[in-house]
Amino acid sequence: MSEKVFFGFKKVDKDKKQSLVNDIFSNVASKYDMMNDVMSFGIHRYWKNILMSEIDDFSKKIIDVAGGTGDISQRIYQHAIKNDQNPDITIFDINQEMLMTGRDKLLNKGMLKGLSFVCGNAENLPFADESFDYYICAFGIRNMTNLTTALTEAQRVLKKGGKFICLEFSHISNDNMMSKLYDIYSMHLIPFFGEFVANDRESYKYLVESIKKFPTQRKFLEMLKDAGFNQVKYDNLTCGVCAIHTGYKIDV
Ligand SMILES: C[S@@+](CC[C@H](N)C(=O)[O-])C[C@H]1O[C@@H](n2cnc3c(N)ncnc32)[C@H](O)[C@@H]1O
Repeated sequence: MSEKVFFGFKKVDKDKKQSLVNDIFSNVASKYDMMNDVMSFGIHRYWKNILMSEIDDFSKKIIDVAGGTGDISQRIYQHAIKNDQNPDITIFDINQEMLMTGRDKLLNKGMLKGLSFVCGNAENLPFADESFDYYICAFGIRNMTNLTTALTEAQRVLKKGGKFICLEFSHISNDNMMSKLYDIYSMHLIPFFGEFVANDRESYKYLVESIKKFPTQRKFLEMLKDAGFNQVKYDNLTCGVCAIHTGYKIDV
């Protein structure tokens, strides 16, 4: 019998999960940016801006994994230009529709030089060992089928001294009052917004369920250590609604 994995709260055949995830993002690609603003009341912009403070040098070789519609790359690009630096960013995503929506958006903003768009699976990156100074992944890793494989790939493509940065939805501690409110909001209101604004309840229900199934901050930190990252740490954002995990590839 084939191995089962979680797709939201449902268990599905392991080899079917990625195509189900791809369908979700194909469905939401054209409305993705607008829905991010609606569902987070614009707070995702603040979280993404905080991620920028983890980058010391915007001219380094950076891969934006699960880069989707390019929100993270756009910010990196703008910081590089502001600092008189040349960006060198690879936006990598498994979903053509998300990637093309992002490409059009960035081209319309006049962002041309120093960006490349590559379609593929983060669990099997088509890049040589030690290719990048930064591996960044925002709101992408919880959608991947095998986290351990994705982290091993992140380690492989980073140069020695390279930095791993992951912004992902996470978990508010249960004793926090906000946890109850957030549960109500995410389990009921997000699917409602999905239906009402994007006419797509199921995709947004999956997004919420995938957040619930993602490992806790501490568990994910242990996974980073197991994948070989050093100096790992995490910072909670908005009481743990999100967390930024970081680590370095260092030979010891
Ligand atoms: C929630 S979006 C995040 C987009 C963008 N990083 C942001 O912060 O707005 C998640 C992205 O992960 C991508 N994705 C899911 N599984 C992937 C995989 N195995 N390899 C690469 N990208 C993947 C999806 O196609 C989607 O574009």
